[in-house]
Amino acid sequence: MLSTELNERLTRVGRGTSMGEMMRRYWHPIATSAELEGPDCDPIVRKLLGQKFVLFRDTAGTVGVMDEHCLHRGASMALGRVEEGGIRCIYHGWKFSVDGTILDTPNHADPRLRERLKANTYLVREQSGLIWTYIGPKNKVPPFRRFAYDDVPAERKRVMRVNVRANYLQVWEAGTDSSHVGILHSNVTRPGWLKSEDAQVDEFAIKDMVSDAWDDMAPKLELENTGFGYHYVGIRKLGASGEQVNVRLTPVFLPTGRMIIHPDFYATVFDTPMDDEMTATFIVDASDVKPLGLQERLERSGLTDPRFYKDQDFVATEDTGYFQDREAMRQKRSWSGFQGLTQEDSVVCLSMGPVFDRATEHLVAADAGVVRLRQRLQQSLEVFERGGEPFGVRYEDMSKVRGFDKNLPGAASWKDHARDHTTYYPADAE
Ligand code: FES
Ligand SMILES: [Fe+2]
Repeated sequence: MLSTELNERLTRVGRGTSMGEMMRRYWHPIATSAELEGPDCDPIVRKLLGQKFVLFRDTAGTVGVMDEHCLHRGASMALGRVEEGGIRCIYHGWKFSVDGTILDTPNHADPRLRERLKANTYLVREQSGLIWTYIGPKNKVPPFRRFAYDDVPAERKRVMRVNVRANYLQVWEAGTDSSHVGILHSNVTRPGWLKSEDAQVDEFAIKDMVSDAWDDMAPKLELENTGFGYHYVGIRKLGASGEQVNVRLTPVFLPTGRMIIHPDFYATVFDTPMDDEMTATFIVDASDVKPLGLQERLERSGLTDPRFYKDQDFVATEDTGYFQDREAMRQKRSWSGFQGLTQEDSVVCLSMGPVFDRATEHLVAADAGVVRLRQRLQQSLEVFERGGEPFGVRYEDMSKVRGFDKNLPGAASWKDHARDHTTYYPADAE
């Protein structure tokens, strides 16, 4: 458990909060490239860390991120016209380029004003299907990071976004919580639990992550700090023989990242706070071996049903019981009454309420990954508050960060397989 005070400290991300200020020292994804479909397309409004921004793509295809309200008298730039190399406010026609330069002021002829003023715009990088921005202090811009997926050709990559009405830490914790995978996601990870003779197994079983190992529901966790945060392994007994163990490594990196291993692709995930009560989870899947399609991934994640997922929002709510399929549960066709990893994770996070108060929880050994996440966030905050740099903020090359899922003769050697992390991203001496 956490004290209510510490819970607040870790979960609040608005301007002026400790976590909010620390988070502002990193680059964050704010949209997928697909959200701005082409040059001069409609602008969009997106939230990041409690602030609202307007994003637009100019005639040359360059993306701009700016404060929502017009520099002149505050109309929303989201209403603007995107044309001829900039965005134009519809109120009095002031026009701005992606870097905030005022290109035109139809109601004010004197050009000196345009030289004196500039709109508040933010640094932008577009890479591998994500639009990233930096909204922190201008004299503290960290290097822009490169991830392993950046080296993977476009046809073996896909990007998705899921907005969930839950605080980022709830969503991130679900991604660093090994023991729920073989339980909440029973249909996906161990469809053998479906014992009913007349069960329609295939309807609900999505054999994406099936492994004998998931039958071990109390994995032993081992953890190690790294410069980017930490990594941990879940060690599970394999089948009946007991000779081998399954070891699954999950890297967790500040400010919001984690990596999840699937059999033939890996997901790099950013649980980005839109505000205190809303999280945009950006997922970049990349495969070393096969082309990836988005539709298939959405199906397997339970996101093709518009009752659950619409326009990137996870929309099922409590007043409909989240559309849980109780009949399928009774018939032992579905463990959770939900279908697919993301549907299950999102509902569980939502059901905790927008900002869960961790003062009421009861942790067990299986929660060690979650506990370490909170500790590393807290430690980084302390360093930051003493004037130091948040963990990992200087890393430009994150491409050595990779998880794995291996069957090993014993657990002892797992650290050898994770040597890149501790070599390239050593934890500071503590
Ligand atoms: S408010 Fe935007 S031009 Fe006047
Ligand atoms: Fe999950």
